Amino acid sequence: MARTRRPLIAGNWKMNGLTSDALALAKDVAAGVSQAGWTDRELLVCPPATLVMAVAGAVKGSGLMVGGQNCHAKASGAHTGDISAEMLKDAGASHVIVGHSERRSDCGETDAIVRAKAEAAWRAGLTPIVCIGETLAEREGGKTLAVLETQLKGSVPAGSAAAKLVVAYEPVWAIGTGKTPTIAEVAAAHAHIRKVLGGLMSDAEGVRLLYGGSVKGSNAAELLTAGDVDGALVGGASLNAAEFLAIAKAV
Ligand code: 13P
Repeated sequence: MARTRRPLIAGNWKMNGLTSDALALAKDVAAGVSQAGWTDRELLVCPPATLVMAVAGAVKGSGLMVGGQNCHAKASGAHTGDISAEMLKDAGASHVIVGHSERRSDCGETDAIVRAKAEAAWRAGLTPIVCIGETLAEREGGKTLAVLETQLKGSVPAGSAAAKLVVAYEPVWAIGTGKTPTIAEVAAAHAHIRKVLGGLMSDAEGVRLLYGGSVKGSNAAELLTAGDVDGALVGGASLNAAEFLAIAKAV
């Protein structure tokens, strides 16, 4: 079946990577991207902030894009330890992940904070990847679709358009656990996300919706061809170039 949206395969390296290993990984992924010459899909890696500039330099010209994992809502100021979307852009990023469940739980990020960060990304000329997803208790309580709807309505800024927004559905219980939802569950979540987005913007049909949570080479073909899935946000498996490229090939 021909896809109407260009898939995006994004690697979230999380808090992993020191210069030499990280640059080797980035170069291996970039070489795979160059060699494949894909025009029908996009690949992105999101290293820790300390490595964004070096990775962007190392992969320049390959077609592999580089993103940040988080940003502050403000452009500059007295916010010790934070980095702004403008700084990520300056370092060579094109995207930034906002509202990852690890930041929502580790740092108490609310939907309103996530929304402000997505707006900051636009201000800086970055594309935000807005993350949402239910906990195990919420899924078991039958609240998945309602939780996704609340998170979307709170986290996606007004004025959204398909060209400047990516949404990632990451069930919290599937992250780093090896567990994944069934294809029917992924399809149901993505269909609901697109429906809710339809009430928030005029071109929701064009927004790329990524699935994230224990994606690997061996399950990518099945997960990523579920209805309304336009790519993946990959954690652990993105730390291995061959595995990450295998996921990209499976789309
Ligand atoms: P894993 O692929 O390691 O489950 O992580 C998913 C994730 O959180 C990506 O943002």
